[in-house]
Amino acid sequence: MLTKIKSNLLSARIYIPEVLLFDFIISFIIFIFIDSTYAVVSLIIIELILSIIMLGYIGRKRNAELDEIKRIINNIRKSEYSNSEEIHLSKNLSAIEEDIKKMFEKTKSDIEYLKRLERIRTEFLANVSHELRTPIFAIQGYIETLLNGAINDAKVNNYFLEKANTHTLNLNNLLNDLIDISMIESGEMKMSFRYFNINDYLQTIVNEFQPMAEEKNIELIYHPAHDRLQFFGDKNKLRQVMINLIQNAIKYTEKGKVEVLIEEEQKFGRIIVKDTGYGIPENDLSRIFERFYRVDKARSRAVGGTGLGLAIVKHIVEAHGSKIEVKSKLDEGSEFSFKLKK
Ligand SMILES: Nc1ncnc2c1ncn2[C@@H]1O[C@H](COP(=O)(O)OP(=O)(O)OP(=O)(O)O)[C@@H](O)[C@H]1O
Ligand SMILES: [Mg+2]
Repeated sequence: MLTKIKSNLLSARIYIPEVLLFDFIISFIIFIFIDSTYAVVSLIIIELILSIIMLGYIGRKRNAELDEIKRIINNIRKSEYSNSEEIHLSKNLSAIEEDIKKMFEKTKSDIEYLKRLERIRTEFLANVSHELRTPIFAIQGYIETLLNGAINDAKVNNYFLEKANTHTLNLNNLLNDLIDISMIESGEMKMSFRYFNINDYLQTIVNEFQPMAEEKNIELIYHPAHDRLQFFGDKNKLRQVMINLIQNAIKYTEKGKVEVLIEEEQKFGRIIVKDTGYGIPENDLSRIFERFYRVDKARSRAVGGTGLGLAIVKHIVEAHGSKIEVKSKLDEGSEFSFKLKK
């Protein structure tokens, strides 16, 4: 009991100056208006006792409020709430209830965000190790076979060396893509924007892919825009975008054609890469820009893909303040496009 009174008074001690001031004013009034010394002393003593009782009462209320806040903080710390609606404070603390709820929501979403990042990181590492293991195992296999005697077998030795070499190239491509992705995501990708003639630029890139298209008996066509059309962007980075899009279009097309064209708008131009290939199922459309995502893993791997190409494309296009768009119909073909400033 005594400790409780002591703790209440201690809690109210911050109000002592105000209470003393109030007591002083009342005492002064008593002193002026009452003549009898006995009455003055008695009234001042009563006043002091009442002040102490009042301080005790204020302290008790203050302690109760502090206990309530402590209880809520402890519950949050012990993760006893699953959402902010479960947090309730008494009426006189309603002013801070909203703030506590907002703090709770913010902490909750920060933690969820960190957990998601952690999951993405783990998945990324698992994917990278898996993708690295495939070519390394293959190279190891061919080398071991050669060392075990195949090196002297003129029928297969060249073939095995060529196979090992192809896997080394794939490994190198994968590492280059990984370096690109990590540079882009850590914000180290330096962009250098300039105006350039889009016709010459696209024609050169398309020409480089003619042999690949011919090999698959696919028509690769560039529809030139008007001669003086200039686009604003980073030529080197956009080259990577165009290479990925044209390569994909040829890789994932069995027969028919791949077309590269430009649609002019007032202040922008849209670069389009269109094919008559396998197409992409609707459910996969929103995921193909994720790192390592492949619609048909077996088919994609068979044509040497690791699923990083479109993730890089998306980053570069977004660094141009634009957005990569895709339309596709299964078994009919796909169309990838993005706008650039002209
Ligand atoms: N033009 C297209 N037609 C049909 N499917 C496509 C097309 N472009 C992309 N895809 C699908 O989207 C997936 C992701 O493409 P992305 O370019 O990121 O990876 P990839 O081509 O498999 O490998 P990488 O480009 O890293 O060598 C592909 O595996 C493929 O399934
Ligand atoms: Mg690709």
